[in-house]
Amino acid sequence: MTPTLRELIRERVEKLNSIPTVPAIIRPLLHYLELPVDQVEVTRIVDLVSCDESISAQCLRVANSALYFRTREVKSVHGAVLVLGVRQIREILLSCSLLNLLPKESWVIDPLVFWEHSLGCALVSRYCARKARFREPERAYLAGLLHDIGELVNMLSFQEEFRAAAQLARSEHIPLHQAEYSALGFTHCDTGKILAAHWRLPEDIAEVVGHHHNVQQAKLHPVLVALVGLSDRLCHIHQLGYDIDASLDWKLEDDPAWVILTRDYPLLPPNDPSRFLLDMEGFAGEARKLVRSILRN
Ligand SMILES: [Fe+2]
Ligand SMILES: [Fe+2]
Repeated sequence: MTPTLRELIRERVEKLNSIPTVPAIIRPLLHYLELPVDQVEVTRIVDLVSCDESISAQCLRVANSALYFRTREVKSVHGAVLVLGVRQIREILLSCSLLNLLPKESWVIDPLVFWEHSLGCALVSRYCARKARFREPERAYLAGLLHDIGELVNMLSFQEEFRAAAQLARSEHIPLHQAEYSALGFTHCDTGKILAAHWRLPEDIAEVVGHHHNVQQAKLHPVLVALVGLSDRLCHIHQLGYDIDASLDWKLEDDPAWVILTRDYPLLPPNDPSRFLLDMEGFAGEARKLVRSILRN
């Protein structure tokens, strides 16, 4: 990317006044996500959830959904918090905040599809991190959730070009970032990196945002970047993507993210990729059910 192009993107990112609330949402959540579950007070969560009508309604809907096999209807926020648990409430809080991030007319990709992919990638990244015994699985969750934020910039600030890129990706069956490069001269990784700096996101998350499609170039946090890069790919394969690139001729053994992970985390079975893939397919199915119950109810 040329310095002039970088400057143009930076200017447009700075003008993104329609998403001023994002740092206000993300920062306390960053802090909140790092608290051990046993230190979170249930009453505090009930208060937090009760503050927002749409979030309370969403928690009740999910708690009463078929996913939880309840025989009696859950009628209070307190009941919903007990049924769902801290982690699930946190996912609902996050997704509700994120869904309202951009004005409706700005979306080129359906916002539900976009956030289903993001939340799906967060869940798969955390699962994968736990399997590898990566020391900070919650970090993988957050990085997975935010990895494609550059697409928000592209949709909002380069709408027509981004629409053309999405069409190109569909018609040519190529990954979206490749199509973006052809149509715009940069990708959502480039714009994401600039947005991450603008929001002052932590360095490891920013590196994931900037390198999840070229994991070999991650110098500071290669394992976190590889975890999210691989999970992103698995989400696209298991119907948690944008319905754009299907990764038809992809092979796990050749994926650079897998190479990094099996080198640094031998707990993943380097000689048995099919066992890993089967397990991930099962989990991706669970994640799909969960994100749909959260976002589509
Ligand atoms: Fe991406
Ligand atoms: Fe993605």
